Amino acid sequence: MTDPHATTVPTLPARTDPDTDRILDSGLLHELSYAFGGPFHFLLPHRFDANLAAFRAALGDAGTEGRVYYAKKANKAAVWMERCAAHQAGVDVASAGELREALGHGVRGEHIVVTGPAKSDELLRLALLQGCLIAVDALDELDLLITLALTGTVRPARLLLRRLPPAQPHSRFGMTAAELDTALDRCVDAGDAVRMEGFSFHLSGYATQPRADLAGALVELCRKARVKGLQADRISIGGGFAVDYSSAEHWHTFLAAQRPEHYHAHKTFHSGDFYPYHSPVAGADALRTILATVPEGGQDTLAARLKDTGTLLMMEPGRALLDGAGSTVFRVQGVKDRDGYGIVTVDGTSLSLSEQWFASEYLPEPQLVTPAGRARGGAVHPACVGGASCLESDLVTWRKIPFPARPAAGDLLVYPNTAGYQMDSNESPFHDLPLPAKVVLDRSGGRPRWRLDRRPAC
Ligand SMILES: Cc1ncc(COP(=O)(O)O)c(C=O)c1O
Repeated sequence: MTDPHATTVPTLPARTDPDTDRILDSGLLHELSYAFGGPFHFLLPHRFDANLAAFRAALGDAGTEGRVYYAKKANKAAVWMERCAAHQAGVDVASAGELREALGHGVRGEHIVVTGPAKSDELLRLALLQGCLIAVDALDELDLLITLALTGTVRPARLLLRRLPPAQPHSRFGMTAAELDTALDRCVDAGDAVRMEGFSFHLSGYATQPRADLAGALVELCRKARVKGLQADRISIGGGFAVDYSSAEHWHTFLAAQRPEHYHAHKTFHSGDFYPYHSPVAGADALRTILATVPEGGQDTLAARLKDTGTLLMMEPGRALLDGAGSTVFRVQGVKDRDGYGIVTVDGTSLSLSEQWFASEYLPEPQLVTPAGRARGGAVHPACVGGASCLESDLVTWRKIPFPARPAAGDLLVYPNTAGYQMDSNESPFHDLPLPAKVVLDRSGGRPRWRLDRRPAC
């Protein structure tokens, strides 16, 4: 596994994270790998708490009344619901299953926003009964909700009307300006069966200016709706707060250098195929920027517009609340040499690193942890990482990662910062391999303590 071009293999290390490094150095991960006999994810709830606190601080510093709703789709673990319940934070759910999970872990119905297109009767009924806020995506959904509220025993139906982003006209979500006009009239006609609380959107991408622009437009929509006698006192700007996985220097150098020969089987990735692993403005700082931005056509910052109009700001971050809050651990099962690089096979599959299933690749590099500790050193041992299945396409990492030592059976590969969307969106027990366990690491004094995210069923 010596590559004549080894020094030219590009590298993309994740930002240094002392919390994670302490766990890597504690010896605990080899114990857990032995205990579970397969890959596992570890979760750091204190990092979720800190991210939530940072979002709330951004709101407070701008003098903005706001609420943070964790977008549950980003990770299925129970512990995030527990943290939301403990902190009286909201949760954004998009299915009856997610709603039941949030309620079951103690989140109050009134703290839940229900998003997603064409919601089922079951979901709408449950949301209505529990007093959740429902982001209505289409006129027929509004009609169904009004019918349920009029014919059921529970009213009003609390709702937001979701705006189709004018700058993303091909989005399949939300309503056009004309549809929103119709929706407002239907809300007025429905009388006390509905409580129209405002408007919402979710934008693709991570740019802050378009979010401030559309938020400014929704504030105007609220003002119009109030004239019709509707409550309309809040807007939701959805999610899309970037996560800054790697430094600017590493990211730009990597993008400029990466070529098909740096990947197993000369697989081709273009820079646009990747998540933007470096973001100059990320997480709660992106919220600060949005609040300090003057929306298109206006004169005041968004924060000032919200305050002047008595409008509450909701947001639904998923990935950003999970930044730094977990990693994924595979055990090396075998290593073979091929054309100057290694093919490492691990004890799980690429289904546990979801990016691999979107014609993309999760780029932040795994750390190699031997039984004696983290591998260090100046050597370069390039290797791609294959999954334990019979599929040619099951590559956990197509890229030849410049490992500082030759990986060996029994070593661990720890993929950093995977809690946001990577861990479990696509997991399935392929080949009858069990799903990776999720282990919550709580801090207790100087040493990490672990427990399972969910107790095994009896
Ligand atoms: C309506 C809605 N809200 C929130 C989110 C969460 O986005 P992110 O995890 O990028 O913050 C999504 C993601 O698809 C979404 O569709």
